[in-house]
Amino acid sequence: MWKHKHLLEISYLSAQDIESVFTLAERFLNFMNRGVRKFPALKDFSMVTLFFEPSTRTRISFELAARNLSANVIHFDTSSSSLQKGETLYDTLKTLDAMGFDFMVVRHKWIGAAHWVAQNVSARVINAGDGTHAHPTQALLDAFTIKYFLGTLQDVRIAIVGDILHSRVARSDAVAFLKLGAEVMLCGPPALLPSQMKRENILLTYDLDEALNWADVVIALRLQKERQKQGLIPSLKAYNRDYGLTPERLAKIDKKIWIMHPGPMNPGVEIETAVAESNVSWILSQVKHGVAVRMALLYLLAQVKN
Ligand code: CP
Repeated sequence: MWKHKHLLEISYLSAQDIESVFTLAERFLNFMNRGVRKFPALKDFSMVTLFFEPSTRTRISFELAARNLSANVIHFDTSSSSLQKGETLYDTLKTLDAMGFDFMVVRHKWIGAAHWVAQNVSARVINAGDGTHAHPTQALLDAFTIKYFLGTLQDVRIAIVGDILHSRVARSDAVAFLKLGAEVMLCGPPALLPSQMKRENILLTYDLDEALNWADVVIALRLQKERQKQGLIPSLKAYNRDYGLTPERLAKIDKKIWIMHPGPMNPGVEIETAVAESNVSWILSQVKHGVAVRMALLYLLAQVKN
């Protein structure tokens, strides 16, 4: 039985909660694959998206998901809002909450921003990414994609490769994958692979070839150039040489591995376009599944009264 009003972190969900999102998402996906795209479920609901960091996938996916469920959807444009006249974020939230939004989808560079919003509004709040901390809906859609293609996450070996230090996706993915029975390996250069992330069932390696030979599924992460402090990596060229997913590198692996990337990608840095567009890539399926997963999540959150 779903009991969560907000989705702030994947760690707050049980494996059963995650499976209930997947069951519903698969139903929505099946309908959409048959051309049925509009459902009346949230026709009396409204959602505002508050993105204080750039986004393509997450924001558009949420807006499409809510529209598919017939909700009213408003995007809060930070650059033309009264924040520019000095209105505080707190007063902004109180103002939007007074308009009666049922959902607020929040992305912010501050760790804990969505938690703080949830404490101050009556709307249901979804964390669409808070700094380097959490990105729970990306974890849900990543786990859904693996289950969709492999049938289970139980004992599946998943390597997450790249800029682990700055990655909210890596943190949320690892939690979701472990809850669903997968094994996780984190791989990256020493400066981008915090040793405190090692724990039971999470392996760490600096060696990409070790990760590729171990894994069934490899998730390449975007090198977050905007969050790099000087000196963490020698150069983009060196990073590509040591941690880039290239056709040549994958050709040396003696088994089939599936490739994922949460996007946006840096082609030629952590992944080559030829790999991203190859027949072992699930990257566009991740995007497609994201809409169905977010529809399922909105539907379930809507069942919990304010
Ligand atoms: N994966 C992801 O969060 O992408 P966006 O930044 O485009 O939303």
